[in-house]
Amino acid sequence: MNKLWAGRTSGVTDSVADDFNSSIRFDCRLYREDIAGSMAHAAMLGEKGIITDAEADALIDGLQSILNDLDDGTLAFDWKAEDVHMFVEQVLTERLGEVGKKLHTARSRNDQVALDMRLHLRYESDTIANQVKDLIAAIVCVAERNKTAIMPGYTHLQRAQPILFSHHILAYAMMLLRDLGRLEDGRKRIDVSPIGACALAGTTYDTDRQFEARMLGFAAVAQNSIDAVSDRDFCVELLAALSLLMMHLSRLSEELILWTSWEFRFVTLSDAFTTGSSIMPQKKNSDMAELVRGKTGRVYGDLMALLTMLKGLPLAYDKDMQEDKEAVFDAVDTVKMCLSVFAPMLRGMTVHADVMHKAAQTGFINATDLADYLVRKGLPFRSAYKISGKLVSECIQSGCVLETLPLETYRQYSTLIEDDVYAAIDLQHCVESRISEGGTSPTSVDRQIAYIKEQIK
Ligand code: ARG
Repeated sequence: MNKLWAGRTSGVTDSVADDFNSSIRFDCRLYREDIAGSMAHAAMLGEKGIITDAEADALIDGLQSILNDLDDGTLAFDWKAEDVHMFVEQVLTERLGEVGKKLHTARSRNDQVALDMRLHLRYESDTIANQVKDLIAAIVCVAERNKTAIMPGYTHLQRAQPILFSHHILAYAMMLLRDLGRLEDGRKRIDVSPIGACALAGTTYDTDRQFEARMLGFAAVAQNSIDAVSDRDFCVELLAALSLLMMHLSRLSEELILWTSWEFRFVTLSDAFTTGSSIMPQKKNSDMAELVRGKTGRVYGDLMALLTMLKGLPLAYDKDMQEDKEAVFDAVDTVKMCLSVFAPMLRGMTVHADVMHKAAQTGFINATDLADYLVRKGLPFRSAYKISGKLVSECIQSGCVLETLPLETYRQYSTLIEDDVYAAIDLQHCVESRISEGGTSPTSVDRQIAYIKEQIK
């Protein structure tokens, strides 16, 4: 194949080397960004008199026709092309002749590819942020629908203290709000224009980088041309944010998988988001949640690939950096897919308040409340803790729970205990009285819901 860069070398390359070198298989997804960047570049060249206005117009029209033809499928990608940038320029020159060859004045593929990635990720980051907002809204919807359901809260996966299910699920909304914040913060550093940095050193032409940045809607222009073409930290940041997001989704998935088991039976997922078994007729598997959990490792892998690819690179551009794309695209695709299935899966979920409540009645999850009761009667917490522990042990021996232990037995352990103990250890009361800021009380849950809604408005 005839190379646009034939010159120093014959440009005659081995076909195995061509295949190895080519990135069009995956960077073809950047064609819209590439063309938008080229249009801005052509407009700037015209504006600055580096090419004539007529030439600029011809380039812009030519680029527009390539865009239209790629969009509607009348132009197919040439899989033998080196990359999307070469492909567009090649087609442009085929269509326009000599003037097509002027587009690459005062430009390099190095600033071009950095530009394309920034434009692309600015868009994808916004898409994902909107999906995260939708997922948060779904969580709030589940919390509101099941606001008063009581469940056992766990530590070490052992029943610990009574909590509202709504409080538990809203913990994930808080995590996702931080994920959203990370996306929004990273976006600021994506939104910086590298175009005009050229190969690495800038250019001898009198260009206007601000003009190009404005046309492409960038908030700022990169201040060092070497930095502009050689770093991919904005990709790393995005993948780091996506990794954390996936970690949160994976933990929620794990809980859903547990909760949908017969051992818990706290929730049922709708048939639309579960699968059956090819051999066991009774099965209803939480495949979506399992896949989200599984795909989390994949996104971490993408982050690691990117970090490792970058760590030893001398400035400025190195071809290694072509490897950023598959990792970034894979992470973006994976996260978008996971989010698109997660929100409707949650919205269609049924919460079994009765089963949760029953689970909350065993496991002595009100033992802390019993200790707190004794503290209110005047005992220091450590002494109260000990008595409460002994009473739990007494219950286990006699096969009852704190709610059914007779008052006489209570009083054998402490004469401070009176008939009002039963009200103090009632689960509903336990939950309602956890009034500390951010606690599980219904007032706190209401406050959290209002806060979250405000944040995603
Ligand atoms: N396909 C290349 C990439 O993705 C484009 C930049 C090529 N630049 C170069 N000097 N060979 O990184």
